[in-house]
Amino acid sequence: MDTLVKVDNLHFQIQGRHILKDVSFEVYRGEIFTILGGSGSGKTTITKCIVGLFRPTSGKVEVFGRDISKLSPIELDEVRKSIGYVFQGAALFDSLRVWENVVFYQLEHGKHEETYLKQLALEKLRMVGLSEEHLDLYPSELSGGMKKRVGIARAIATHPELVIYDEPTSGLDPITSRVIDELIRSLRDKTGSTALVVSHDLVSAFSISDRIMIIRDGQVVQIGRVEEIMNSPIEFVREFLKKGLGDIQAVRRG
Ligand SMILES: Nc1ncnc2c1ncn2[C@@H]1O[C@H](COP(=O)(O)OP(=O)(O)OP(=O)(O)O)[C@@H](O)[C@H]1O
Ligand SMILES: [Mg+2]
Repeated sequence: MDTLVKVDNLHFQIQGRHILKDVSFEVYRGEIFTILGGSGSGKTTITKCIVGLFRPTSGKVEVFGRDISKLSPIELDEVRKSIGYVFQGAALFDSLRVWENVVFYQLEHGKHEETYLKQLALEKLRMVGLSEEHLDLYPSELSGGMKKRVGIARAIATHPELVIYDEPTSGLDPITSRVIDELIRSLRDKTGSTALVVSHDLVSAFSISDRIMIIRDGQVVQIGRVEEIMNSPIEFVREFLKKGLGDIQAVRRG
């Protein structure tokens, strides 16, 4: 199995607090891997260690076979170019139009003409179900679901091998959430990219994932395929799923 992300015995402390405790997992090429856990359990922190925004206190994070903490700033930038990051909350720039948000990276590294970039933005917007009419709008003129789509369009604009989605459905109504779920799957299928999703949305996690990792208080509780997690022998996992189980079964029957 081709491994894209390999996290080994990762510990992370900040301000004297031990946030991640001996976290180990792998993300395989082409899969949708979801980190599922309650608020404050350390999900976003794990993704920040993966993209090099946080440096592990101990342990190792390898992305595309490269040890993130050993890279020079230029090498890290190279690796980051192959990672699309959909931030928790859409994190769009309010003063920029939709198309400028989508090709923000290319504008920053400016060597392309505006007409080319606008065309590129349109291509990406179409992939997430938006169109020409959205190009010149500002984020304040978009709904929550549209903002998420623009955030996803930006993440895929550099043709990343790995896309990290931090809470892609939070703050959305159930119907829009399912649309975003479908989009994550279809983008993976169309582009052959790998998805690392962070969520506390049980329905979303069980409908889109190949494998799920459950974390609690900075520690891995279980990693497994969807069916394995659903039939978990671990008391904490069973309790965690209980609340959302009715919904999950409805989704998997549907
Ligand atoms: N920069 C920071 N400085 C201090 N503490 C932090 C920092 N970033 C995260 N933490 C702490 O680490 C813990 C885990 O935070 P993290 O954002 O990873 O949780 P999460 O699982 O993503 O939660 P949520 O579902 O609410 O987004 C929290 O207790 C948080 O307060
Ligand atoms: Mg988070």
